Amino acid sequence: SPSDPDLVERARAAKEKLGDKVFVLGHHYQRDEVIQFADVTGDSFKLARDAAAKPEAEYIVFCGVHFMAESADILTGDEQKVVLPDLAAGCSMADMATAEQVAECWDVLTEAGIAEQVVPVSYMNSSADIKAFTGKHGGTICTSSNAERALNWAFEQGEKVLFLPDQHLGRNTAVRDMGMSLDDCVLYNPHKPNGGLTVEELRAAKMILWRGHCSVHGRFSLDSVNDVRERIPGVNVLVHPECKHEVVAAADYVGSTEYIINTLEAAPAGSKWAIGTELNLVQRLANRFADQGKEIVFLDKTVCFCSTMNRIDLPHLVWTLESLAEGNLVNQIQVDKETESFAKLALERMLALP
Ligand code: 13P
Ligand code: SF4
Repeated sequence: SPSDPDLVERARAAKEKLGDKVFVLGHHYQRDEVIQFADVTGDSFKLARDAAAKPEAEYIVFCGVHFMAESADILTGDEQKVVLPDLAAGCSMADMATAEQVAECWDVLTEAGIAEQVVPVSYMNSSADIKAFTGKHGGTICTSSNAERALNWAFEQGEKVLFLPDQHLGRNTAVRDMGMSLDDCVLYNPHKPNGGLTVEELRAAKMILWRGHCSVHGRFSLDSVNDVRERIPGVNVLVHPECKHEVVAAADYVGSTEYIINTLEAAPAGSKWAIGTELNLVQRLANRFADQGKEIVFLDKTVCFCSTMNRIDLPHLVWTLESLAEGNLVNQIQVDKETESFAKLALERMLALP
């Protein structure tokens, strides 16, 4: 969408006034009108790693969603304030695992006599509480770019993994990348007593997958893949691992947002691509590579933007930058000390993965 020139000028002026005091991080799913002001863009892993890259910046303006801003707060010092331009920018997947539900799950695993064999691995897309639970129980965080390494590490620590909260990333990594079978995985439903599982099922499982998913990626279907292959002969199908297993199994390439960008950068002129991830990113890539003769289409036109990512728009960014430039700290994301210390343990285990 074309951005309002007055707002662009106001954002530019406020950012210039703040100078080195502000560091703007932008996730790849952000709108173009916001991404143009990002000092760094990246997938969730890169943004977590880079959050602490500019310790002289007093304010880190995180253009992304709530769990990303929390992670940035956990990984930076007390002097650095993390700001989320719209506090309503959450993530429906992260909301699918609450601290109470996960504590209850751990009780179920304990009663089944298997808790000691279980290592929790939590996707970055989770609240700080869930990350703290993970750290407390000897587990690690992962993102879509290091899930296989995280799982390999976890299976060196224990015999079973409790994977939170994205069933698809967990299943896809275990089955597609690590050669486990679908039968090695069970689905834990937090809305059912004992997760809807018998003690025997829990004892037999290698991967206990939490029943969470992304409402955006969940809408790509096997039909989307079959249709695009019929429409565009020779097309390469490239999807995010948050898609359902049948979609990932039918795709040619699977990876994080950063992987998607790198793959398209390396693709030869004349190649054709159908991309299964959030629409802002796909549109930006289609425009960017059009003059190199790379044809890039959206895997399924009925799938829409991530509505919470899209909450961060230029008006919210202008308001945030102008407030900070006037010395008003707005929309700070601050994780309490106790949660932070355990969550940090889990995040640091991820950052130390080989
Ligand atoms: P990436 O880590 O691949 O950027 O994914 C984040 C996300 O929220 C995907 O929906
Ligand atoms: Fe969450 Fe899905 Fe949006 Fe990513 S795309 S932030 S997982 S709702």
